[in-house]
Formats: sequence, C-alpha cells, structure tokens
Amino acid sequence: MKNLHNALQLKQLLLFRQFGYCYTDIVPSELEEESIELPDHIETLKKLVLECHLCELSKHRQKVVFGEGNPKANLLFVGEGPGATEESTGRPFVGRAGEVLTNMIENVLQLPRSEVYISNIVKCRPPNNRVPTESEALTCRPYLQRQIALIKPRIIVTLGATAYRYLTNDDSPIGRVRGSTIEGDGYKIIPTFHPSYLLRNPSAKKEALSDLLKVKALL
Ligand code: URA
Repeated sequence: MKNLHNALQLKQLLLFRQFGYCYTDIVPSELEEESIELPDHIETLKKLVLECHLCELSKHRQKVVFGEGNPKANLLFVGEGPGATEESTGRPFVGRAGEVLTNMIENVLQLPRSEVYISNIVKCRPPNNRVPTESEALTCRPYLQRQIALIKPRIIVTLGATAYRYLTNDDSPIGRVRGSTIEGDGYKIIPTFHPSYLLRNPSAKKEALSDLLKVKALL
C-alpha cells in the first residue's frame, strides 16, 4: 500500500512550494514502505488514525473523527471535515448539518443511519471550520481511501465541493457536477450539496432531493 507513502511525499513537495521552490528532487523518505502500510481491518485502521500526527490539524484537536456506520455499507457519505460538535463527540455529522444529513438518510432514502457509513476527507477539525488545506486533505486522504477499500461501498455520495474534489481530483464547481454519476474503482460517485450549504440555501434542497432519489434508485 503506497498511498500513505505518496501522500507524505506530496506533503513534503507542497511544503517546499510554500518556501518558493518550483522544482525539487523528492527527498527519500526515512520510513520503510512496510512500516506505513495501512491495516486490513477497519478497527485496526481506526486505532492508527486516532493516533495520527501527520499534519497541523492534529496539534489542536480534541478528538479525531474517524467515521462511523455499517462497516459493510453499500452507501458511503463523505463530508469535508469535523465541526465543533463532531470534534467534541468524536462522531461525524452530529451537529446541525448532521441533522440535515440524518433526515436525508432516514426520510428520503428510508434507511436507518446505522445502515450507511459516514466519513470525511479530513479526520480532525480545521480551526474555525475553515476548508482543509490541500496538504491536510492529501495527507489524510489515504485513510479515506483505505476505508473505501475495506468497506467496499457500491455508491459514494460526496457532500460539497471539498469531498468531491479530493475523491475525483476534479475542481469543477459543485453546482455544475451535482447529481452526475462518476465511475470509481468498483463504486459510483454521486456528488451533491453539503448539508451546511442546504442550511444556508434552503432553495437548493430540491436539487439535493433529486440527487438522493437517484441514489435511492441505484441502491
Ligand atoms: N461537516 C462535515 O463536512 N463533516 C462533519 O462531520 C460535520 C460537518
């Protein structure tokens, strides 16, 4: 599993870029690749992630929010990163945005929340709920990729622009791509609006509803 190794090299390159470098040879990692292989079991992965100190976000966090739900879920929701309520409880989407997401799952998809899996691009809260930096997102992404490989969902719903961007490497505005279907490696990605956006823009709820009806039909 080279993902974490690659993420660390990318993080190093992004750091050099901040210092003004345009090009650098990659400095060989001190770590053996074997030593950063990610676990084959979700609970072992969780233990590792709870101890992670690979980026700045780990310095001030209260709790790591690994994700929760059915480890064999057909449906995975991916948000951006924990907010204040999530950080204090260690659970994803349990604040106001979480209420919206839970309603979407229970009332539109007619599934118990415990039947799906819910995770985020970054597992630690960015200060003041800012968008995670590219370096933070790319450093944390291998954990999400491992969650996906272990859960093996059939459908991934990305919530908002950040989740869409880091799962597809596409920077398109969410308003343009929402409701489309992107073929992933053994799963389909369906982007929709972030629940926090729906709280601020209730008129977008009808589009989110149509995206979720598409998910329901595919399930
Ligand atoms: N917003 C997110 O993107 N994720 C959460 O877990 C909570 C709010």
